[in-house]
Amino acid sequence: TRVAVIGGGQNSEHEVSLASAAAVASALEEAGYDVVRLRIDRSGDWYGGEERPVGLAGAVEVLRTCDVTIPVLHGPHGEDGTLAALCELAGVRYVGSGVRAGALAMDKWATKLVAEAVGIATAPAVLLAAATAPTYAWTRPVVVKPVASGSSQGVSLVREPSGLSAALDAALALDDRVLVEDVVTGREIDLAVLRRPDGSHLVAPALEIVVDGLFDFDAKYGGGADFRIPAELADVERKTLEEAAVTMFDALGCSGVARVDFFWTDKGPVLNEVNTMPGFTEHSQVPKMFAAAGTSYADLLDLLVRDALT
Ligand code: DAL
Ligand code: MG
Repeated sequence: TRVAVIGGGQNSEHEVSLASAAAVASALEEAGYDVVRLRIDRSGDWYGGEERPVGLAGAVEVLRTCDVTIPVLHGPHGEDGTLAALCELAGVRYVGSGVRAGALAMDKWATKLVAEAVGIATAPAVLLAAATAPTYAWTRPVVVKPVASGSSQGVSLVREPSGLSAALDAALALDDRVLVEDVVTGREIDLAVLRRPDGSHLVAPALEIVVDGLFDFDAKYGGGADFRIPAELADVERKTLEEAAVTMFDALGCSGVARVDFFWTDKGPVLNEVNTMPGFTEHSQVPKMFAAAGTSYADLLDLLVRDALT
């Protein structure tokens, strides 16, 4: 089986995607797959094996020689449905969510609207743009974030009014829409949901992120956080979270595997966000959650590839 693995991309999670894609490609190769690596650089140019520039048309040709494509891109211009759209239009099979789910999940405001509609709580928030940002009046600590981004890029916790304008600028540098959310106090718990071709779901053991302070970019990639798998939860709490994760996965119409991130509060689960192409190095949350359930990294990739071919 010939698999195309795409990494990189035109956004602030470029390096994170390269790490995920490299790990995916190596593991598939070790498992005996014929792997074709493709890279999208920061300006959107495509490269094939041996760093050969191939252009978009050349990349599509390469994808068409493969049985299945894994677009291991995080963030805008990748995880947001654009890569899925390319695969759809090119007529190639791919792993992961389609256009609609990718676009909805990448948009944290749209995700919130969907979550609230299916009865899942999210942090109260205000949507701002560059033109409306100056009218926002700070009254309490808030989290400021770009509507579409990832890996905590452009996200700030604003504890004092003096920090607001820099936080809005940082978020507006990555997107033209910004969310200002109330701070949610709770334990950070991630769920991984995988949808099988028959419509059934596999939910891996919940993961708790144990971190001193914010689970920001440095904590995510600098080793400043610990994962506890399975998260220590009462049966009823675990079930509530699992049901909310599957409900969210299905409400957005996700495919393949997604990571659904919650805060567990004294009022129950509060959804933070859904990642339709979550971090995918062997040490990232999703592979670790499945490993805790006895599904190795290679087996997880094998499952995703086989399901995409079904
Ligand atoms: N957005 C990063 C890659 C994650 O969800 O893990
Ligand atoms: Mg994310």
